[in-house]
Amino acid sequence: MQLNVHERFDSRLPADDDHPYRTGAWRPQCVEYDARGLDVTGQLPEDLNGVYLRNTENPLLPSIGLYHPFDGDGMLHAVTFENGAARYSNRFVRTEGFLAEQAVGESLWAGVAEAPSASLREDGWGARPRMKDASSTDVTVYRGEALTSFWMCGDLYRHDPSTLEPLGCADVGGEFPRWGVSAHPKVDPRTGELLFFSYGLEHPHLRYGELSAAGELQHTVDVPLSGPRLPHDMAFTEHYAVLNDLPMFWDDSLMEHGLYVPRFHPELPSRFAIVPRHGVEGTVRWFEAEPTYVLHFVNAYEEGDEIVLDGFFQHRPAIVPDRRRSFEENLFRYLDVTEFQARPHRWRFDLRTGACREEARSEEFREFGMINDTVAGQRARWSYHAIPAEGWFGFTGVARFDLESGSEQRFDLPAGVFASETVMAPRDGAVAEDDGYLVTITMDVVNDESYCVVLDASDPAAGPIASVRLPERVCSGTHAAWSASL
Ligand SMILES: [Fe+2]
Repeated sequence: MQLNVHERFDSRLPADDDHPYRTGAWRPQCVEYDARGLDVTGQLPEDLNGVYLRNTENPLLPSIGLYHPFDGDGMLHAVTFENGAARYSNRFVRTEGFLAEQAVGESLWAGVAEAPSASLREDGWGARPRMKDASSTDVTVYRGEALTSFWMCGDLYRHDPSTLEPLGCADVGGEFPRWGVSAHPKVDPRTGELLFFSYGLEHPHLRYGELSAAGELQHTVDVPLSGPRLPHDMAFTEHYAVLNDLPMFWDDSLMEHGLYVPRFHPELPSRFAIVPRHGVEGTVRWFEAEPTYVLHFVNAYEEGDEIVLDGFFQHRPAIVPDRRRSFEENLFRYLDVTEFQARPHRWRFDLRTGACREEARSEEFREFGMINDTVAGQRARWSYHAIPAEGWFGFTGVARFDLESGSEQRFDLPAGVFASETVMAPRDGAVAEDDGYLVTITMDVVNDESYCVVLDASDPAAGPIASVRLPERVCSGTHAAWSASL
């Protein structure tokens, strides 16, 4: 292996750190590497060409008060596959907030589990006051570039997908100057457009926008809500974007005191907005459904007069605090898929009648669904779901889910080994939707190592085709993406 250190950072975290999300699979990294000629177990397929991109939360500085795993600075990882070989790079996302905190060697902004008033800086980014944009949540490939984004809204930071060279922020036309945009912008593979949304404290509380395949802002629309909400994801079809107004939002009475604490309102319905795309003027149509919270959607498509939406329905979005556990332990239960009980679910919105039908698709707790992105917005047959690690915000494997039958086939990692969000990478010249590979990075806390693992997307239970050893154990995080561009 040919290993070069790009930059080495100092960690100011305590040497005997015992925070559950800064140790184990979440142990932060301090070194940026470029590595070539990585050791491979098995044989890398010659027809796997592209980049597995993984964003992670990677703190270097103690928090002002209580550290939450979504507070860490974004660190992007890229495993590039080319002609049967693999190379690796990792870089911190050099956000304005990251650079400002590194310059002074301390945290300047309060984290998501702290009161904004604890921030040392008055300014900030995002859907609530005095917050840092860590650009640590998501990564999306648009116009051949890797865009990182933040779940509470911020800038879209552009990078070369393979070298991770920073390319500045995406220009969204100055239309979203303060809130920024949310994580989970979507790219329509048929048009190359980037579809995005933004949410925040001020009316209209939710906005939707589209960038063209040429990178120009071509359309924005207000989607007024009755108050601030916490939408995390969206979906789209050929003619519509699907946004949401779910009954999990900041407690009004606590917000008056400067505290931002999500509360579930089971007496309110879930509401889904069907927004015309492509700048077509038209009414935003709302559909009501059973109350829940949805962290992630899988896909949406049009079928006759209906829009079909697949996602994960939380059967227990309101977790009752357990008095035997500490405040921190209760806080982190909200990150455990088996606690909030998310299961595959399908909603059908009838544009003719205005009615919504919905159905549970599986009894299994699953989340973080991925599809072959070349069919996004169209009817897909296969999705790939993370199998949750009980008690943790982590995954122990991946399940290939049949969106037609509801059946699944699973691949499980050994005990002590965790998976990242797993992407589907179509093989060169693919002729079927599942003709390709599943790619993920593992965090092995038993042997203190990470591999980038390649599975057959049509038969993941058969086990790894190839495993690429990375220079050091990667810190766990949230989202990943596949770039067909090198
Ligand atoms: Fe997400």
